Amino acid sequence: MIEPLLRTVGLGIAYQQGRPVLSDINLTIEPGEFSGIVGPSGSGKTTLLRVLMGAIAPPRRDPQGLWQGTVERRAGLRMAYVPQLETINWDFPVTVFECVLMGRPQHGVRFRASATERDEVMTALDRLGIAELAGRHIRELSGGQQQRMFLARALTRQPDLLLLDEPTSGVDITTRHAVLHLLGDLNASGISIILTTHDLNGMAAHLPNLVCMNQRVIAHGPPAEVLTAPVLEATFGAGLDVLNHLGMPVVVDSGRGAPATGELLDPHAGLPAAAAGKGGGTDD
Ligand SMILES: Nc1ncnc2c1ncn2[C@@H]1O[C@H](COP(=O)(O)OP(=O)(O)OP(=O)(O)O)[C@@H](O)[C@H]1O
Ligand SMILES: [Mg+2]
Repeated sequence: MIEPLLRTVGLGIAYQQGRPVLSDINLTIEPGEFSGIVGPSGSGKTTLLRVLMGAIAPPRRDPQGLWQGTVERRAGLRMAYVPQLETINWDFPVTVFECVLMGRPQHGVRFRASATERDEVMTALDRLGIAELAGRHIRELSGGQQQRMFLARALTRQPDLLLLDEPTSGVDITTRHAVLHLLGDLNASGISIILTTHDLNGMAAHLPNLVCMNQRVIAHGPPAEVLTAPVLEATFGAGLDVLNHLGMPVVVDSGRGAPATGELLDPHAGLPAAAAGKGGGTDD
């Protein structure tokens, strides 16, 4: 059997004592993996990516017991991380070329490139179809172009494992398709991929594998197996139904767990009678 790229055993993380963000996470990431992590806001998806990448590591001293379990990585594993676009400072005065250049290992904040580095950066930009944007300021890109630029930046690290945080948030359907295809091509070329997404139907359902989590892993497997009403209810705590469309699961809001329509339309619904009367009859 091929050695896994990464394995977590009994992983538990808290930023503050007594408030666990991840608990008992046991995940094995095999070569060739292409998985999505889904879960509600605050369920620990970004934290998990940062732990996998090593940006959050076990402290040398841990008197508060903030860290549990282990993360093992295959020797020499090369990883690259594509952050959520919303977290980027787009006013940072760099061009697309410079931004990709600075992502290379050991390059740091140095704007001059050797001929070899220049070639590597332009090859990565070309691979993502944005070579003609090399000289443009990073602010002057569309969402899809920004995403491609960060993918190019990640590729210059020649990663075995690519970790992406919400790669399709805030992009239109066409760009989402393009990003999904691009990631599929990268995966076919031998790069393992783990991403997070809130897009159950547009993204998650199209991936080979999903991890549903909410502090703990609730289910792990192909979308057809894990996108089920009970798993989604356990993950999101809201009523979701799953329909079958040409063999693909389609997640829809069941309305269970949300206010009934009448309550949404009636501004006084749920208020005590006295409060409901207030304001309504003051013109009399
Ligand atoms: N640096 C930090 N310090 C303290 N608490 C943090 C920190 N980063 C995240 N948290 C908390 O940890 C929990 C998990 O956050 P995380 O960002 O991992 O969730 P997420 O699943 O990525 O959410 P979203 O879908 O909104 O991106 C949240 O309650 C968050 O407030
Ligand atoms: Mg997040």
